[in-house]
Amino acid sequence: MVQVAEAEFGSKSYGEMLTLRKRILRDPLGLEWTEEEESWESRERHFEGRVDNEMVACVVIRPLGNGGVKLRQMAVEPARQGTGIGRGLLEGVEKILITDEVDRIELNARDTAVGFYERLGFRKVGEEFVEVTIPHWKMVKTLR
Ligand SMILES: CC(C)(COP(=O)(O)OP(=O)(O)OC[C@H]1O[C@@H](n2cnc3c(N)ncnc32)[C@H](O)[C@@H]1OP(=O)(O)O)[C@@H](O)C(=O)NCCC(=O)NCCS
Repeated sequence: MVQVAEAEFGSKSYGEMLTLRKRILRDPLGLEWTEEEESWESRERHFEGRVDNEMVACVVIRPLGNGGVKLRQMAVEPARQGTGIGRGLLEGVEKILITDEVDRIELNARDTAVGFYERLGFRKVGEEFVEVTIPHWKMVKTLR
């Protein structure tokens, strides 16, 4: 069972999440964060997923206004992928967002992760596009 919690920007947990995100999402592509991405971090919400107190997953939520958010940087420890941790993290985060009056989540999904988000109730909108050098799809989900 994954324990979901929000961490402050700049906290020790936030630092651990940055390390996890970099190792899983950026290093395999040979990319660094852009200045534009870094400039958002202090204004975003950072959620961690832990199992037996070990950080195994994380996700970033960017407020867009009018009840909308953008989900970014979803990552699960590779050795634990496919064991329900991504689902547990996302369902836990959605419960928190609903209590904060969020009613719409959008994201840019890597082509390889589209099936995961579809299982969680997201649907594709528009056409495929390239981001961080790989194919992506915009996806949306309405909460409530
Ligand atoms: C994509 C990712 C976040 C999914 O998390 P996960 O913990 O592996 O997924 P779960 O085990 O919770 O799977 C939840 C459901 O989605 C399905 N699923 C998981 N990954 C899938 C995939 N890549 N394609 C299709 N279905 C998938 C599972 O079968 C499961 O279905 P069920 O619960 O209805 O039986 C994780 O694999 C990951 O970090 N991948 C590498 C980084 C990445 O691609 N991040 C997303 C960037 S947009």
